[in-house]
Amino acid sequence: MNGLEERIRVAAQNFFTNGYAVIESFLSENDITDIKKEINNLIHESTKEEKRNIFGNDFNVKNHYFLDSANKIGYFHEKHAIDQDTGEFLLPIDRTLSKIGHALHYLNPVFHKYTNNDKVRLIFKEINFTEPTVTQSMVIFKNPKIGAEYTPHQDASFIRTEPEIRLVGFWIALDDATPENGCLQFIPGSHKWELKRRFVLTGKDEGELITWTTPEVKYEDNQFVQVPVKKGSLVLIHGLVVHRSARNMSDSPRWAYTFHSFDDTEKSRYSKDNWLQIRDGQNTFMKIIEN
Ligand code: FE2
Repeated sequence: MNGLEERIRVAAQNFFTNGYAVIESFLSENDITDIKKEINNLIHESTKEEKRNIFGNDFNVKNHYFLDSANKIGYFHEKHAIDQDTGEFLLPIDRTLSKIGHALHYLNPVFHKYTNNDKVRLIFKEINFTEPTVTQSMVIFKNPKIGAEYTPHQDASFIRTEPEIRLVGFWIALDDATPENGCLQFIPGSHKWELKRRFVLTGKDEGELITWTTPEVKYEDNQFVQVPVKKGSLVLIHGLVVHRSARNMSDSPRWAYTFHSFDDTEKSRYSKDNWLQIRDGQNTFMKIIEN
């Protein structure tokens, strides 16, 4: 794997120390072309949806489409890209999407290939996951001039395991990510903090379907470190590390493919009130094992 094994070992140590780590050139130029081609197919598919779903906390908590996207390929648009009265797009279709999710890894062969492979398995081995199980996958667009901010959060708020939190995000840059177009920002070492709040099912069938357990936590700007990366880089994200990203007010896109995996053992069982559950017998939780 051309020196990749050693770079993964170094990254695993950084991951344990800081709660995040970067592996450059994880994907090749050809891989990225392959993925972007598929994303463009999906963008085309998204135009067939009658209702325009907006991505954001205010919209997600009451939205059956969001809840059901756990085991589907759902399309979510930027709030400012849609006229909320008429549902009409205010921008060209290739700029409106915020996110596609959450079962790309399971339902789409191209994303399956980039989620379950030898390189990914090697990383799980180095970070000591024995039963890695992917629960969700997303394309995150942060399109020029419209891509929204992601406020500070811990990913385990959405995907908790118990009694221990054993969760990792793989975040692959499909464009160069810079401070200008909204690269990831981390509080180094915050993965050693407790889980501050959760995003859980309410058990209701209408109204608020999902809720936050406590209000948003405030952090200081100077706690965050910007982590710019070249396209093709992989960023590993510990489930407890606090991270965020700014709006993209630049002229360059900042697309990424990301998936999350927990370690499905006695030590870290998937919580039953996480918003994302296997629904309608459609088990899209995918064990990362030899093909
Ligand atoms: Fe995150």
